[in-house]
Amino acid sequence: MLFSAIADLSKRKEAELVAVPFWEKPTPATPLKTLATVVKPPILAKDFTGKEGEISLLYPKGGKEKRLVLIGLGKESELSVDGLRRVYSTLVKFCLKKKLSKINLLLPNIVALRTITLEECLQGICEGVLLTNYQWNRKTTAKEKSHFLKHVTLVGTLPQTLGMVRPIEEVAEAVYLTRDLINENADVVTPHYLGEVALGLSKKFPAIKSTIFDKKRIEKEKMGLLLAVSQGAATEPRFIISRYEGNPRSKDHTLLVGKGVTFDSGGINLKPTGHIETMREDMSGAATVLGTLAAAAATNLKVNLTVVVPATENAVDAKSYKPGDIFTSYSGKTVEVVNTDAEGRLILADALSYAIKHLKPTRVIDLATLTGSMVVALGNGISGFFSNDVKLAKQLLDAGNSTSELLWQMPLHKPYKEGLKSDAADLKNCASGRAAGSITAALFLEEFVGKVAWAHIDIAGTAFIDKEFHYWPKSAVGFGVRLLVDFLKKISR
Ligand code: BES
Ligand code: MN
Ligand code: ZN
Repeated sequence: MLFSAIADLSKRKEAELVAVPFWEKPTPATPLKTLATVVKPPILAKDFTGKEGEISLLYPKGGKEKRLVLIGLGKESELSVDGLRRVYSTLVKFCLKKKLSKINLLLPNIVALRTITLEECLQGICEGVLLTNYQWNRKTTAKEKSHFLKHVTLVGTLPQTLGMVRPIEEVAEAVYLTRDLINENADVVTPHYLGEVALGLSKKFPAIKSTIFDKKRIEKEKMGLLLAVSQGAATEPRFIISRYEGNPRSKDHTLLVGKGVTFDSGGINLKPTGHIETMREDMSGAATVLGTLAAAAATNLKVNLTVVVPATENAVDAKSYKPGDIFTSYSGKTVEVVNTDAEGRLILADALSYAIKHLKPTRVIDLATLTGSMVVALGNGISGFFSNDVKLAKQLLDAGNSTSELLWQMPLHKPYKEGLKSDAADLKNCASGRAAGSITAALFLEEFVGKVAWAHIDIAGTAFIDKEFHYWPKSAVGFGVRLLVDFLKKISR
């Protein structure tokens, strides 16, 4: 999809639709000039009030577009970036239903408002458009192809503003990559495939260097927990290390670790019907950190970033690792596996201790679809996170609020460590009972991070949804990419 921009309303090119923004009341949010009389009927009929997300369709005689829609932005005093994302998402859904390809958007005049900047306004509108103009290639035999918007002209701003739109497009592109990786079949997106994606990014962006460990190398490194989880899999595990050096003169260095379970059957502790159907999503952490890496490189972020992905399937097989068995982690700590379905924390433990030891990062953030308990606690709209560092936690919360990829901090409540005690090994991989399942999982991870500033984001509820929500499509959401990009952008300043 292509954005263009034109300052003068009367000089806009022809299109299939023009969208005219209104504040609630309704009053035009932009000077209408010759359109002023055209927009009147729905207002006079009181069919249109300008409420957030409201749409009225008109067919004006003559003019440069066959269709004109009035779109409500809500109250002027309450305008927010996310409000714009939602409104323009609604508009795009309307256009896609009508199979339109080329539209003109009159930009609201926000100069007098002071609630948001021009850059934020563009961000809200363009993200709303881009994040909605996405469709996973459904594998139906129906002849009808998915339809997309191809050309959007921003009317009321100089073409120079497209310089601000460019990075927004790059980040949206990265969100698409993340969504596609999560949506695609588990038999396609294997650990090997994730490695190829990392290598592909290295090829595309010279600032990214990737190293992929195969099974032999993982054995040589003695990542005993990753190997245990991968025992039953038909495809070999991979350990992916991709480094983007955007600020070579600085020692500051962020490590992102993403859970890459390409399918989580639960293993011998097999998941029941109702819990297993979407488990191709269990590599969402991996897809998110790879998407973030792509976005960082594409937008030339001045940060040093390493992305690490432990990748394996958690399969049921005669060779699968077994409940009750004890394995030695990369760190040397031994773990009694009491439940083979608590596999994410095992592979993350090896990834965290390996990467922290060898890369000595300034800070570490892991993302994982780690626990069903997190879905119970916060649902599908908010990710819970844990951190041992007050500053890092604050920065993440701030990035969450800016991007509306919302976070809620959960406690690393030390007394609950009791539940992870084993009489046969240093640790059990999960506590018995379901109480505080997300917290005990995070406490397990904490055992492998040492003193470095660390945060763990549990995206079990937000990575994949069963019903679309504004600009979040059904299935893979791409949650976390915009959040992490915003976080990285802010720490680079
Ligand atoms: N991948 C799952 C968690 C999950 C659940 C992700 C729902 C996305 C949606 C994880 O590996 C898992 O199975 N966790 C168990 C842990 C339990 C065995 C201690 C869970 O949450 O039930
Ligand atoms: Mn599991
Ligand atoms: Zn899992």
